[in-house]
Amino acid sequence: MKKVIVTGGAGFIGSHTVVELVNAGYEPIILDNFSNSDERIIKQLEQLLDQEIEVHNIDCTKEQQLARFFLLEGNIHGIIHFAAHKAVGESVKDPLKYYRNNLISLMNLIKLMKESEVKNLVFSSSCTVYGEPDTTVVTEKSPRKEAASPYGNTKRISEDIIIDSSIAGDLSAAVLRYFNPIGAHPSGLIGELPLGVPNNLVPYLTQVAAGQRECLTIFGDDYDTPDGTCIRDYIHVVDLAKAHVNALQWLEKNPGACDTFNIGTGNGHSVLELVNSFEKVNDISLNRTIGEKRPGDVSAIYADSEKAEQILNWQAELSMADALKDAWTWQTYLKNNW
Ligand code: WQD
Repeated sequence: MKKVIVTGGAGFIGSHTVVELVNAGYEPIILDNFSNSDERIIKQLEQLLDQEIEVHNIDCTKEQQLARFFLLEGNIHGIIHFAAHKAVGESVKDPLKYYRNNLISLMNLIKLMKESEVKNLVFSSSCTVYGEPDTTVVTEKSPRKEAASPYGNTKRISEDIIIDSSIAGDLSAAVLRYFNPIGAHPSGLIGELPLGVPNNLVPYLTQVAAGQRECLTIFGDDYDTPDGTCIRDYIHVVDLAKAHVNALQWLEKNPGACDTFNIGTGNGHSVLELVNSFEKVNDISLNRTIGEKRPGDVSAIYADSEKAEQILNWQAELSMADALKDAWTWQTYLKNNW
């Protein structure tokens, strides 16, 4: 079986990708330092997959740890690199933490890939590289605008590091720009585990629904959108996870390739639409209020995912309603079992 290293494999998107790799016949190996994930997720994964998963507690910023792993493991088919800090607000307060962690880990990986002749890299980038876009729908050709946060800037710089390394012949790469990942595995066994107060809409909302938080504040209702609330492209995490498998398969068929792909549904939904849909599919009434706009939020953005469809043969299959149902199943599981 082809061994695929999944850095950050205990995290939200990483853990779902481990499941899809196994489903597609790969052997995922998780590298994680559990700085923003919970070791119990590994047991959950093993239960879901009914098999053991190889896991190494490794910090990708520590080159020697990583080098030892590469030396001992051998025969690595590819790397899917998720391990990174991702809290936008925290990155504004502590930019060095973000630049150090997100960039050094990537550079260490690329150096070791080169030395060990591992060619395939799938990288976790973000729609945040588009900044405040000129158009609501963005294609991969839309300009990357100045990043709104140090976090966003680390993604932009990472993309450049990968492109330059591929030009130098060091690797082949698929750079995936995620839109807004939500939901959880339909089994209810894995999902998002935000530390502290969630920043993102869906984990906040599910905690309100579970009675852990009082009220959901909708940040602004006077944007220039049909109902006044912001519009985003919410993608089910299982669909997103599958995009990584397709990207890997594309790299296998196209040695030396390096390209960037939007991974979204191609549909925009407003915050109000999402909240109403959550209430409807789960038959729950949410305590909510309208608040101030959140600084830095763009009013509307969603993906043109045509390129991923054409080249990666990937398309989102699940709906926002599916994701909101699965997110609630996971929240309920957490409440009863965690
Ligand atoms: C979604 C909408 C909020 C919380 C983030 C990152 C971005 C990318 C995707 C990784 C917005 C509104 C939110 C709340 C609300 N991630 N909202 N009340 O900001 O679109 O994107 O995830 O790279 O870089 O910034 O996601 O879930 O925080 O917000 O009204 O309590 O929900 O204003 O319109 P965002 P989000």
